[in-house]
Amino acid sequence: MIEGAELSPDGRVVSVAWAGARTARFHALWLRDNALDDKTRSAGNGQRLITILDIPSQTRIAEAAVRGGGLAVRFMPEDKWTEFPSAWLEDHAYDRPGAAETGWTGERVVRWTKATMQGRVPRVGYGAASTGKAALRDWLGAVSAYGFGVMDGLPAESGALCKVSDLFGYIRETNYGRWFEVRAEVNPSNLAYTNLGLQAHTDNPYRDPVPTLQILSCVENTVEGGESSVVDGFAVVAALKQEDPEAFRLLSTHAARFEYAGSSGVRLRAKRPMIELGPDGELLAIRFNNRSLAPVVDVPFDEMDAYYAAYRRFAELIEDERFEVTFKLKPGEAFIVDNTRVMHARKAFSGSGKRWLQGCYADKDGLLSTLASLEATTREAAE
Ligand code: FE2
Repeated sequence: MIEGAELSPDGRVVSVAWAGARTARFHALWLRDNALDDKTRSAGNGQRLITILDIPSQTRIAEAAVRGGGLAVRFMPEDKWTEFPSAWLEDHAYDRPGAAETGWTGERVVRWTKATMQGRVPRVGYGAASTGKAALRDWLGAVSAYGFGVMDGLPAESGALCKVSDLFGYIRETNYGRWFEVRAEVNPSNLAYTNLGLQAHTDNPYRDPVPTLQILSCVENTVEGGESSVVDGFAVVAALKQEDPEAFRLLSTHAARFEYAGSSGVRLRAKRPMIELGPDGELLAIRFNNRSLAPVVDVPFDEMDAYYAAYRRFAELIEDERFEVTFKLKPGEAFIVDNTRVMHARKAFSGSGKRWLQGCYADKDGLLSTLASLEATTREAAE
């Protein structure tokens, strides 16, 4: 409940006070643009019906009052009353102390290492996830917090990975197909299709936008070795920044180049940093893939040696066993990774057995949308 609303003398700012000493200031223009009435927002779909140009630039608040525990204001020159619920204003308050340290991540992101994650991998059975909304919600929530998760109980057959993406969204088709086969091939078009070990990496950094989720499912796995491992890139970035802030600066402020031209008719290229920050310093994504790093040509000459030292140190930390969580996929199991954050790797394998995995891409916004929708349903049911 709002307890007080105080208007600045020029009517351009209103200070709202809640019980418990919490306060926040709001600008008249901001409130006007975000008004919740049905002339401003569609009652049906919530979309805004006006543009910024429909709002007078001289907008100010003539009167502010507490009404029914919420805030009521009268905008001039429109002479328009509108109301904001207390909870809505609390949820959308932007009057906060200064920005967090560069490289920050949202509240949901939980960084992990081998010490905190090995043996605690988020896991759900396909049967539970496909029939129980709570099981699916909890697993998607874990994927959003940790950037990966395992699903078991899938049929050990070709195409089973689509059942995973069907639970929350859509497959993102690429030049590798709707999904691709990961097994040793003669004359492979990609080193993934061999029995070589693969350094921890994010997939397809040469695409823009990059695939934000990857699903890998196991149809057969009877070889010696061939374990999968995952590394939390955000944990590695935090370690790099703490130990060598200059290395963090170099990798986050200079673009790298990535390229793939391994099959005919394909020449994918992207220019993006290995550590990508938002304009407010939020850590958004990492891109790391030795196989598809192209010549880096956007680092100033005088900084190239230091850039390479930073790249080397980033790679050493990524290889550091402290960050590596390992598991061997069994037939009927799949794992999903947030490809903007969590790197995956494969140990070399040999022997007479077979290792047949299938991989596909999907979009994280779809996963987060399904998760938010399931969480909203849970909240409504609790209210
Ligand atoms: Fe990969």
